[in-house]
Amino acid sequence: MFELNFEINQFLDTYWQKKPILIKQGFVDFQDPIAADELAGLAMEEDLESRLVYQEEGAWQAEIGPFNTFERLDNDGATLLIQAVDHWHPDAQQLIRPFRFLPNWRIDDLMISYSTPKGGVGPHIDNYDVFIIQGQGKRHWRVGERQTLPEFAAHGALKHCAEFEASIDVEMEPGDILYIPSGCPHEGYAVEASINYSVGFRAPDQNDLLSSFTDYNIDNNDNALRYTDIPMQVREKPGRIEQAELNKLHQVMLENCKTPAHLIPWFGKMISEAKHDLDIAQPEHPLQTEDILEFLEDGAQFTRLGGLRAVYFEQAPQQVFINGDAYDFSGFLELISCLCDQDETASELVEIFQSSAEALALFTKLVNLGYWYAE
Ligand code: SIN
Ligand code: CO
Repeated sequence: MFELNFEINQFLDTYWQKKPILIKQGFVDFQDPIAADELAGLAMEEDLESRLVYQEEGAWQAEIGPFNTFERLDNDGATLLIQAVDHWHPDAQQLIRPFRFLPNWRIDDLMISYSTPKGGVGPHIDNYDVFIIQGQGKRHWRVGERQTLPEFAAHGALKHCAEFEASIDVEMEPGDILYIPSGCPHEGYAVEASINYSVGFRAPDQNDLLSSFTDYNIDNNDNALRYTDIPMQVREKPGRIEQAELNKLHQVMLENCKTPAHLIPWFGKMISEAKHDLDIAQPEHPLQTEDILEFLEDGAQFTRLGGLRAVYFEQAPQQVFINGDAYDFSGFLELISCLCDQDETASELVEIFQSSAEALALFTKLVNLGYWYAE
């Protein structure tokens, strides 16, 4: 449905995580997958995270949804932002697919904003990479090279940065794509009522990783290694921690993550968990394996639920992590790629299931959990 119109390898070599770029007409003949009133509808829902940003007498204001009314949007200078629309709107989800030239585990979600003329969220720096796609309308965007700038809270829920020099200063038109690496200041203000789509990327920092790893171990490691002494001798300097003791502490701390393989059970669980709610609808009556086969034999395709994360590791491909749970795919590895590398299952599923009842049973379970659905 959406096809990128630029040289991807060149983009990856020259720009990805290095510098911002405007890709003029990155999508040719771009058609918005969602309308402004549908966005407003989503912003009324409890399950979605939405924000309304505007200025009042020169002061920035940010309100958190859900919203009952949208009077602000009758005036200039307002922006409505909704996170993870790909979880709720299959057509909007299509806009993530062209970016799967980058791995799924790095892609976060699709945020959509609707701005009235002059609307924007102000100058800021994000700590993630983002592609901003211009939908309907026009918006004036300024982006600076990666730099450190003073940052401050323009409002309790709005962090801004100081003024910056722009290396990109452009009025974006429908189908234009702006790539902004993490750390580059940017600001965009609508020239006319405008929709922007942001495909954002996830990059946990060291502290996020360590705290999540520790949480995992607290829940899963009942036999935590405890510090025991090195061979002891009478201490001349009881106030001093010996080098050998520090080495031993270091060893105890690293015991659970000695090799990259040690990280797999934890990282697979963590990275396959969606940060935002999913629109899970389990079938009213659980499907049987025969029902699934019948669907497939009739030519039906199953689609992975929008925002559902299904990943596996090159190092341990039989273990698949789906929405925070581990599944064993030993004996039917062909199923892995169908579910994790493709958004929609292809015809090879029939063959896989004809040769493995276990594969079919597992897939039936995933369908009954609402993770894959047939149109
Ligand atoms: C917006 O669409 O208004 C905000 C997008 C961004 O700056 O990341
Ligand atoms: Co931003």
